[in-house]
Amino acid sequence: MRIFLRLLLATACLPAAAQTKTAAQRADSVLKLMTLAEKVGQLHQLSSDFATGPIQPQGDRQAAIRRGELGSMLNLMGAARTRQLQEIAMQSRLKIPLLFGQDVLHGYRTTFPIPLAEAASWDLPAIEQSARIAATEAAAAGIHWTFAPMVDISRDPRWGRVMEGAGEDSYLGSLIAAARVRGFQGRGFGHTDAVLACAKHFAAYGAAIGGRDYNSVDMSPRMLWETYLPPFKAALDAGAATFMNSFNDLNGIPATGSAWLQQDILKKQWGFKGFVVSDWGSLSEMINHGYSRDLRQASEQAILAGNDMDMESSGYAQHLAALVQAGRVPISRVDDAVRRILIKKFELGLFDDPFRFSNEQREKDYYNHAGHQAAARSIAAKSIVLLKNDTVSGRPVLPLQRQQRIALIGPLVKSQKDNLGFWSFDFEDDSSRLVSLYQGMHARVGAAQLRYAKGCELTGTDTSGFAEAVAAAVDADVVVMQVGEGRDWSGEAKSKADIKLPAVQAALIKAIFRTGRPVVLLISAGRPLIFHEVASEVPAIAYTWWLGMQAGHAMADVLFGDYNPAGKLPMSFPRTEGQIPIYYNHYNTGRPAQNDDQRFYVSAYNDLPNSPQYPFGYGLSYSRFVYGQPIASVLQPKGATTITLSVPVSNQSGTAGEEVVQLYIRDLVGSVVRPVKELKGFQKLMLQPGETKAVQFRIGTADLRFYNAQLQHVWEPGEFDLMVGPNSRDVQTVRINWQR
Ligand code: NOJ
Repeated sequence: MRIFLRLLLATACLPAAAQTKTAAQRADSVLKLMTLAEKVGQLHQLSSDFATGPIQPQGDRQAAIRRGELGSMLNLMGAARTRQLQEIAMQSRLKIPLLFGQDVLHGYRTTFPIPLAEAASWDLPAIEQSARIAATEAAAAGIHWTFAPMVDISRDPRWGRVMEGAGEDSYLGSLIAAARVRGFQGRGFGHTDAVLACAKHFAAYGAAIGGRDYNSVDMSPRMLWETYLPPFKAALDAGAATFMNSFNDLNGIPATGSAWLQQDILKKQWGFKGFVVSDWGSLSEMINHGYSRDLRQASEQAILAGNDMDMESSGYAQHLAALVQAGRVPISRVDDAVRRILIKKFELGLFDDPFRFSNEQREKDYYNHAGHQAAARSIAAKSIVLLKNDTVSGRPVLPLQRQQRIALIGPLVKSQKDNLGFWSFDFEDDSSRLVSLYQGMHARVGAAQLRYAKGCELTGTDTSGFAEAVAAAVDADVVVMQVGEGRDWSGEAKSKADIKLPAVQAALIKAIFRTGRPVVLLISAGRPLIFHEVASEVPAIAYTWWLGMQAGHAMADVLFGDYNPAGKLPMSFPRTEGQIPIYYNHYNTGRPAQNDDQRFYVSAYNDLPNSPQYPFGYGLSYSRFVYGQPIASVLQPKGATTITLSVPVSNQSGTAGEEVVQLYIRDLVGSVVRPVKELKGFQKLMLQPGETKAVQFRIGTADLRFYNAQLQHVWEPGEFDLMVGPNSRDVQTVRINWQR
């Protein structure tokens, strides 16, 4: 038996190049050797050095690794540390390598803008590149697997995790989900710069009731299929190797225990071949949900529902073997889960060389990588959304003029770490790599042209710094203020009922505005904030999200016009919390308001317009783009044909710039009611001064499909409005009649 075992192991562990067997065959050959305890070990994941959730007692983790009873770990950083733990795994009987996971959401060493910010770039190649760099750096530090992309659609900025996603729209979200998966997984597994992607949180986590994190979700299957599932399907189609389920219950069934989501939809209907990991402790939380009596039952429910790996509940570790022995869980289900995980370990090449990712030299090379930082600066500039740029004394406030004396005011101006955002990491001697707004501006114009005053803290009631700030403003030609949220104000467990810009910051803005100096407001935050009070006053506003380590340079690039802003909002910005959830692709209702002034006996608020402060897709430029008349190639198409909608777009300014031209469609009458518009295409194009381009969208019947009452994905003949414009509000319409 010993000899036989050695022989089998030797074959399973041949280097990839010498292998004629597939990863699946090699996984099977290992599976055959495993005891039940070792199989359960492959399904067990614990955190290592730090926590990203509530910590449970974990026992001796190194001993468990040595016994082959812990197959995966998260939250450990660096090539040396990952190597150290992998060495322990190599002391186990079967030497099955550990799989190391980490939340690499927006960069690893190089911190990129938060995903919601990057979504505002509408720039898929740039988003893919950001993920590619993150994967390259993480992989060099021994990380095999990122818990990203987060592809949850959300229409609720109270939910702190909107920062991790691509916003409210399913079409844009799907394209971004696919781009990120491509970026993380790169040239494919086997390359040491490709990590496993993880589409999360399956499913509908972003629709938590009231925007409160971890809350329940109650939603029609039609809404789920139409709006919340498409980004997951897109991630899967792009090759996402893993999925993470979610904390929430969906219509009464916790996602972790939902066979409908994990088995029926994901594994059977969609044919997903990778593995599903639970969210942190979500398995044991089924007890709190009131769905499981105890951890043993939760483990049984989760494994039978298709949850393969248990993150941080230790439910499988404690109960799965007994459940198998008692006949409650078929061994075939356990084998299936283990096999899915082993296949990924083989595909990554870990059986050939378990240390191939943990590479101190590569890690060092990427520590301060100029190319990576340049990419971070570039996408940071692309993520900025110019919301307002009024004319003061005969010229728009932005871009700034080189010779102007500039007062930099606000609690974030000199902050470096707040720009990093929630899922970012701290490294030693970080400060030399992080660029605040002040540093970015200083690098441009030098200290003599700058005045600075903090004015106030991010929150609180202390206004004692206002006087100094007012004096700095008075001594300048123009004021640039950076206000907003601190680094961890949005993110996991960061839901807020009040998302207004903190009162002390709003008061500071008003005090500065009263000086009469032109004010440029930069709002840095992880979610759409509410700032309508100041929005009407100050002449220029740019939304700067959390832009990552190169934030200061990117903001300076935009302020001086070295980069002409082209970002467009991926979420509707509400006027106030009472409008939430607010999203552009709502239904018309039986009593639609025709405009914001119509209030009575229509679907409207009596005290507030229906429209958002800024609509989805909105964003200005230093160029002036003018849209001509859109023309459809056919007004009465028939059957499965493709038509073209063309619109001339001109740059009627002296500044070259990019525009995101957006296509929306409305199905006027359906067997179920259809949204007033849905994004179905966009093109980001560069236009030189005076240049006109004819933008063409090809539209086929696939673009008209929706889920009917029977959940069939169909299109129905009839009238459609094709709308094109610079955002979801300001569109021009062509009506067509499409028959079978
Ligand atoms: C809980 C979060 O919901 C999930 O997104 C994350 O990947 C895990 N914690 C691990 O940190």
